[in-house]
Amino acid sequence: MSTKPAILVARALFPSVLEGLQTQFEVSSNQGDEPYAPAELIARLQGKSGALITGSERIDAALLDACPQLKAVCNVAVGYNNIDVPACTARGVLATNTPDVLTETTADFGFALMMAAARRMAEAEHALRRGEWKRWSYDMFAGAEVNGSTLAILGMGRIGRAIARRGALGFGMQVIYHNRSQLPAEQEAEVGARYVDKATLLREADHLVIVLPYSAASHHTIAAAELAQMKPTATLTNIARGGVVDDVALAEALRNRTIAAAGLDVFEGEPQLHAGLLTVPNVVLTPHIASATMKTRLAMAELAAANLTAALTGGTPPTPINP
Ligand code: DGY
Repeated sequence: MSTKPAILVARALFPSVLEGLQTQFEVSSNQGDEPYAPAELIARLQGKSGALITGSERIDAALLDACPQLKAVCNVAVGYNNIDVPACTARGVLATNTPDVLTETTADFGFALMMAAARRMAEAEHALRRGEWKRWSYDMFAGAEVNGSTLAILGMGRIGRAIARRGALGFGMQVIYHNRSQLPAEQEAEVGARYVDKATLLREADHLVIVLPYSAASHHTIAAAELAQMKPTATLTNIARGGVVDDVALAEALRNRTIAAAGLDVFEGEPQLHAGLLTVPNVVLTPHIASATMKTRLAMAELAAANLTAALTGGTPPTPINP
């Protein structure tokens, strides 16, 4: 019988990462496309000391109580709203995430999505594919200016700051932001960022980019009342989590042209989408892929594996959530 600790890798991952884990652990892994349903996840975790998980796996008190041997849950994601961290802490279970390694890649995507929404790229492309491009006209798919405009960032963590750098240094944008706390002066100075209250952020935004972590406190931070405060020419981009924005209110605001356009990579109840979002033309929709380059996904998987290995072999996990 093996004396190695047993772990579960809950979603298919890079073979090199699995091979690395197999040198230390008895590894069970999900090689299918589908995440395990909650009851199956609990069944698969029986007797396991650790789990490598993604945002698709929910780790809550009931699961932890049903899997008392679990010592560590390691997310292959920076966001960890899928993990009940206080429940883990109360049971002595270490939780980890993957910050830093995805910051620049995610910021690239957020900026691209904002530009695509502002410049109506998806709308124009769809029309072209439908054979609707017959002639030039001065206002054909004329969108919102990005360069020199006001970039409004809600949630100024690592990714928010990386987006601010792109806007300020690459596109000459004025950066305003709202956050739980104001940044140190030197971080503000790097991009000329101005800290404002939420109402000012909404009122002055030409392009609002949302990078807030999801929690009960940030649920529907942007809903109908907030959208109504924005300029009719403004865009909204959400690369944070579904639920930070009220998608029903957003679909309505896009339909009524309360705001001009949106770029969305995350959705309430994803992978299902609110039907209203699928029928408005002025939104660019992508399936939660902001960190999806092979280089970054490999770095995320390797960091999660390093966390799990350290947690179960007496080392120091590099990026704990509940140290
Ligand atoms: C993250 O890392 O949180 C991304 O959203 C992928 O889940």
